Order: sequence, then C-alpha cells, then structure tokens
Amino acid sequence: MVDIVKQPGRLRRAPENFLSEAEIKAVAEGRRDFLRRSFLTAASAAMTAPMLGRASEGDANILQNPEWTTTLGQPVAVRPYGLPSKHESQLVRRESPGLTRVGAASVSFAPLQGMFGIITPSGLHFERHHQGWYDIDPARHRLMINGSEPAFVKQAKVYTMDELMRLPSVSRIHFIECGANTGLEWGNVAVPTVQYTHGMLSCSEFTGVPLKLLLEDCGVDYRKARFVLAEGADGSSMTRTIPMEMVESGEVLVAYGQNGEMLRPENGYPLRLVVPGVQGVSWVKWLRRIEVGDKPYATKDEAVHYIDLLPNGQHRQYTSVQECKSVITTPSGGQALLDKGFYNVSGLAWSGRGRIKQVDVSFDGGINWQAARIEGPVQNKALTRFNIGWVWDGKPAILQSRAIDETAYVQPTYGQLRLVRGTKSIYHNNAIQSWKVDESGEVSNVQVL
Ligand code: MTE
Repeated sequence: MVDIVKQPGRLRRAPENFLSEAEIKAVAEGRRDFLRRSFLTAASAAMTAPMLGRASEGDANILQNPEWTTTLGQPVAVRPYGLPSKHESQLVRRESPGLTRVGAASVSFAPLQGMFGIITPSGLHFERHHQGWYDIDPARHRLMINGSEPAFVKQAKVYTMDELMRLPSVSRIHFIECGANTGLEWGNVAVPTVQYTHGMLSCSEFTGVPLKLLLEDCGVDYRKARFVLAEGADGSSMTRTIPMEMVESGEVLVAYGQNGEMLRPENGYPLRLVVPGVQGVSWVKWLRRIEVGDKPYATKDEAVHYIDLLPNGQHRQYTSVQECKSVITTPSGGQALLDKGFYNVSGLAWSGRGRIKQVDVSFDGGINWQAARIEGPVQNKALTRFNIGWVWDGKPAILQSRAIDETAYVQPTYGQLRLVRGTKSIYHNNAIQSWKVDESGEVSNVQVL
C-alpha cells in the first residue's frame, strides 16, 4: 500500500501554467534563463521537505492574519460576469507558434494540463475557425431547412432563434475533437506539451433541439433523403455531409446552449450543429442551413480536407467518427516531478463510438499495464476522467494510457496505427501517447512503437 501521506511527490506545472506570453516567446527564441528563473519561482513554494501538510509553528501564513481576514472584501456584482482568479491567469487557450500565418484561419488549444474533471470551461474551449469568428445578432439569425429536390421535404422552412428555443429541448454532455488533433505527431514528436498534442479537444453540456424533430416538422421523406448537408453562416462556406442514420438516432442536435448559458461566439453563437462522436469539422458553427439530399455532397471540406492520406498515396474520404483515444494530462510534457514518492496520475479518455469501458496505464513504456480508476458516471461520447496512484522511485519511466471502449476497440500503438495509415496523414491520429520521465524528473514527449 502506497503511503500517500509520508511520500507525496511535488509536481512542477507545465510552462504554460505560469509563464507569460513574452516569457514563452523568450524561451522559444532560446533565452532559457527566463525559463529557469520562472521555474524556480514556481517551484520554490514547494521546495520544503516533501511531507503532506506541515507543522504549523513558524508559518507566517498561519500566525499572522492576512488582509483578507482583517478587512472588508469586495461587494457583490463588481464583476457582473464572473472571471477566474488573477492567480490563474496563465491557464489560457493558446495558439501554437508558427502553425498558421493568419489568426482568423487558425486553432487555439485548450490547456488540458491544468483542467479537472470532464467539463471544459466555456472560456477555455478550443477554437478552430476557417475564416474568423463573429458575434452574430440572434435577432437576425435564421436557420433554413430545404431539400436538394423539392420532393425530399413536404415544406422547406425558415426558423428564427425564438422559434427554435420554444421547441422541446434536450441537454447532453459530449466531447468535440478536431479531426486534426494530434495531427502534428504523425511522423514524429513535434510539440512539447499536452496542450499542443491533444488540446483540440473539449467537452461541454450542450442544449438544443434534435435535428430529427426539425426535419420531421418540415415533412422529410426518410426513404429518399439519406444525407444532410449542414452550412455555416461565416465566409468559409463550411459545409459537411452527415448520414441520415445519425440524425434519425436523435443524437444530432441543433444547439444554442453550452454549459448552462448560450454558446460562446467563438463556438458558434447563436446556433451550432452537435454531431456526437464525429470529428469537430462536422459540428458546423453559426449554423444557417440544412439541406437534405440523396447522396454525399463531396464539398471542399470533405473532398480535399479532413481526409486520410493512406500509405499507398490514396485518400480515404468521410472517416468521420473519432475512434477511441486517451491521454495522461498530468504528469505530462513540460511538467517535472520534484521528488520521489506518490503521484496521482490523471487523464482523459473518449470514444466516438460510445462509452469508455476501461483505461489501462503503463509506467514502463507498454510492457506492464494496470487498470486505472474510472471516474463516473461514464457518459456516451463524452470525455471520461481516469486516475491512478503511482510511486515514482526516481528512475526513468515512460507513462502511457490505453483506452478501450464499449465496442471492445482498443486504442492502438504508434506501430499499429502507422502500419495501416503510414506517417504522412494529418487527421485521425488516436495512437497511444507516451510521456518520458527522466532521472531529473523532467517529463517530455516521446513516441513508443
Ligand atoms: N463551422 C464554421 N461555420 N466555420 C468553421 O470554421 N470549423 C470547424 C467546426 N465548425 C468551423 C465550423 C472545425 S474544423 C472544428 S474542429 C470545430 O468547428 C471547432 O469548434 P470550436 O471552435 O467550437 O472548438
């Protein structure tokens, strides 16, 4: 049995948790003195004896009353819309330097290394825009539903937001992952921290109307109309085909709510499509039109982009379900173990095909595996948090997690995935992630075949 109380390990957080934008830039330019100084400051609070809790004698934080105990605090509603503590100001979504040259057609990554549980705070939800984001006036926003042939729907209709929000709604927790998540790592290790390897991933409670209800309101002919085309109102002409079976299952939502409030503008306010289990690009934001048709549309975002390049040079289209995947978020790249002793190893698992059944964790690069503790309730097509205790003995280690979903699909190793997919793809990389802990305790991104 691990003595958690006598041997607690201390963790130095990933640089993105405490370095400012300017300091990170300085590090990227090779001025590592910045990094060392900031690390020392961040770690200094923890540099006393490794013991859980400590004797109270001599601790000024106990002996002297701080100002928050002796003075009047701030009144209510100073900030009518609440904000995180100023002490948490470095835990933000970040753009990977050098990834794109135009910010309006870029990605910001969610800081998975500093998040708890499974819900992504709306302000930390990753962003992927093809042509910038808008804060659309809901009074002027419309959703049109029509058929590519008049016979596919009895009546084409246009809905206002007010009309949509009066219909029976559902609320469901689902993950969204961009098909390009972990896309930089196909060939080799490319980025240092989990924010950049896996941060095109978020999970929210979405509220909206099942698309099925709206199609039936328009009198859809399910025998003829077997596909749906979703279109966004932004200038990128974002369009994606969705098979009608997904809509008929009742899972696809026309959503306006996210985590108890309206969607954030960056995430599609006032209306977005929620397509559980399917890659993020199909979750069309600023949703303005749904067309039903009898064949896939092969639009630019499905014929040229979001396709899988196979080793024989051919492209595979419409691989849209996000297969089972997991990642250890702490300890993870850029963090450091400051002591030998006990660590709570924590991470996330998810599957586009349903619920997570099991997560195994290895501390020796995949030779031995132990089942992690899954934090329930486990939800359909949602992030699932896992935890497992580990005592670091100060020797090099390689940490991995391997998820298994309810269909019994097992997350592949890089070796297994590359056999089928090669190394030149961008999309749908769900390989097992490895974090190496070296003797000094530094954690870095490595690949194990
Ligand atoms: N919808 C529109 N209209 N325009 C876009 O650029 N980007 C897509 C999808 N929906 C996009 C869109 C992509 S590629 C992804 S991964 C998700 O939105 C990202 O959603 P998020 O920005 O809310 O994280």
